[in-house]
Amino acid sequence: MLKELSFLVGNPYFTSINKIKRYVGRGNEINMPPMFLRKRVHGARDIYSFLKVGKNCARDLTNSLKIIGRDWSNFSMVLDFGCGCARVLRHLKEHSKYCHFFGTDIDPETIFWCRNNIDYADFFKCNSLPPLKYPQETFDLLYGVSVFTHLNEEYQFLWLDELRRIAKKKAVLLMTVQGSLIPEIGNHCGSDLTPEEISILRSRQIFSRKPKLTDFFAAYESYRHTYHTKDYIYKKWSEYFKIVEYITRGLNNHHDVVVLEKK
Ligand SMILES: C[S@@+](CC[C@H](N)C(=O)[O-])C[C@H]1O[C@@H](n2cnc3c(N)ncnc32)[C@H](O)[C@@H]1O
Repeated sequence: MLKELSFLVGNPYFTSINKIKRYVGRGNEINMPPMFLRKRVHGARDIYSFLKVGKNCARDLTNSLKIIGRDWSNFSMVLDFGCGCARVLRHLKEHSKYCHFFGTDIDPETIFWCRNNIDYADFFKCNSLPPLKYPQETFDLLYGVSVFTHLNEEYQFLWLDELRRIAKKKAVLLMTVQGSLIPEIGNHCGSDLTPEEISILRSRQIFSRKPKLTDFFAAYESYRHTYHTKDYIYKKWSEYFKIVEYITRGLNNHHDVVVLEKK
């Protein structure tokens, strides 16, 4: 692994190779996905931020469980919905003692990479619309990091319905949205939204637009940048699940974490 990282020494994108080493500690000797896959799921190519953000997200999923008085050992069947190239799942290996992990994504290349590099989870390529191949009431924990932030409203409802189908009774779901970014929209991912788009977002409480894409996702008409307000989540998602918590900036101090329970 360190040999693989050695080309980064002297690279102006990195202040120190030690920063990277810090994230390649014990239990994290998993190969790195290739640069094009890191860029695709993470938006940046550098190894340091890929590892750092993934690790922070894993930590914050753990914190979200703590907030509701739970931890990974309470769950046996766990789904990473929209797992990408395991940016988050690579940091959860220690929990595979009690959790049987599954990962699913529409992207065949990330699923291929995961299958060949993560040996403590089962991976499956899904379609952009349900159903998933899992039987009903399979999982007791389901999480999705930055997936509902890429679905249009119609797909969002179809996926909420499908996640409800494959969740066991009382299952916990941790899904991230970019709600609290809205007041500061000028400073974040939505900085290219026009004033008209921002006003639609404020009045409809959800705004979804097709980003300008040239990569893999360009082929997916449904792939969006989507913003939800907290009010929207309470109003619309509660038709599918009980909303247990809404943790503002609960994920890497960036996305909000919606903690749901199957009724
Ligand atoms: C921003 S990436 C995040 C990936 C991963 N959760 C992470 O945090 O690294 C969004 C992921 O959602 C996946 N995705 C998008 N639409 C999806 C859908 N309809 N069903 C399942 N996965 C989807 C994409 O392929 C991509 O891997």
